[in-house]
Amino acid sequence: MKPDHSNKVIIVTGASAGIGRATAVALAQAGAHVVLVARRQERLAALVDELAVYPGRRLALAGDVGDAAFAATAVPQVIESMGTIDVLINNAGLGHHSHLAEMPPADMRRLWDTNVMGLLYLTQAAVPYMQQQGSGHIINVSSIVGQRPLPAMGLYCASKTAVNFISRTLCMELRPYHIRVTTVYPGRTLTEFGDALLGNRRTNPTALARVPAVRVAQAIVKAIASGKPEVYITWYDWLFAHANRLFPRTSDWLVGQISGRTSR
Ligand SMILES: NC(=O)c1ccc[n+]([C@@H]2O[C@H](COP(=O)([O-])OP(=O)(O)OC[C@H]3O[C@@H](n4cnc5c(N)ncnc54)[C@H](OP(=O)(O)O)[C@@H]3O)[C@@H](O)[C@H]2O)c1
Repeated sequence: MKPDHSNKVIIVTGASAGIGRATAVALAQAGAHVVLVARRQERLAALVDELAVYPGRRLALAGDVGDAAFAATAVPQVIESMGTIDVLINNAGLGHHSHLAEMPPADMRRLWDTNVMGLLYLTQAAVPYMQQQGSGHIINVSSIVGQRPLPAMGLYCASKTAVNFISRTLCMELRPYHIRVTTVYPGRTLTEFGDALLGNRRTNPTALARVPAVRVAQAIVKAIASGKPEVYITWYDWLFAHANRLFPRTSDWLVGQISGRTSR
């Protein structure tokens, strides 16, 4: 049976593309009121139109999640317009393809501001409302590479490791307020992520399989119903993450062998 999220107010960041867009569509199909956040206003407006066939209301908020002032104004706007926030999905993110020693400071700042600070700003803005209502759910989209570093993706991996620790801490801190926290660990997913990378464009991306964004979206929609603290999308993502913990040096060697051929 498909989850029913009728009348839930759900914020999705990074809703203009990829996983966030697919999640917004799946949530609208499940009856939710969806708040769409991203920088590209025209894409959000087009998505609002596309979702008009489904029940529920929409609110498009264009802005940069890495800007603290955006979160400070966006969350009260959601409360004013929708009355509550049931779920916050921190999904907006970007990657890079550059070695750490060569990464320009502006890129490092932008990546960290988007992937880590953006998540924190919106979470801090939303939590007081959730505490007041005595319920809520925060879903943080991490990555399986937050569980092990990869050459040429080091700061991205580190940002996702930070997301994992922040998520697990929030889970413990917010439990007394009946606010659930879920970390989602997608593996390689077919989205616009590769086009938006900071740094050098990959000329020889790995041939590893990618799952469609809708599969991640469906897992997120299910997680809202189940409240699971951790969600993997495929069995091989789960295996990748756990094998890394059990055999860190072997997996470093293996990843070095594979990515040595593809990291430049
Ligand atoms: N694709 C993968 O293989 C993969 C694997 C594991 C995890 N993930 C994670 O999944 C999440 C979604 O990525 P995706 O693959 O769907 O990538 P995507 O197709 O490039 O979408 C990224 C989304 O984030 C938004 N965004 C980026 N910077 C933003 C900012 N500063 N403020 C507001 N919105 C911003 C983009 O919208 P605007 O440009 O309009 O702002 C876009 O809607 C990310 O957190 C990513 O790290 C992806």
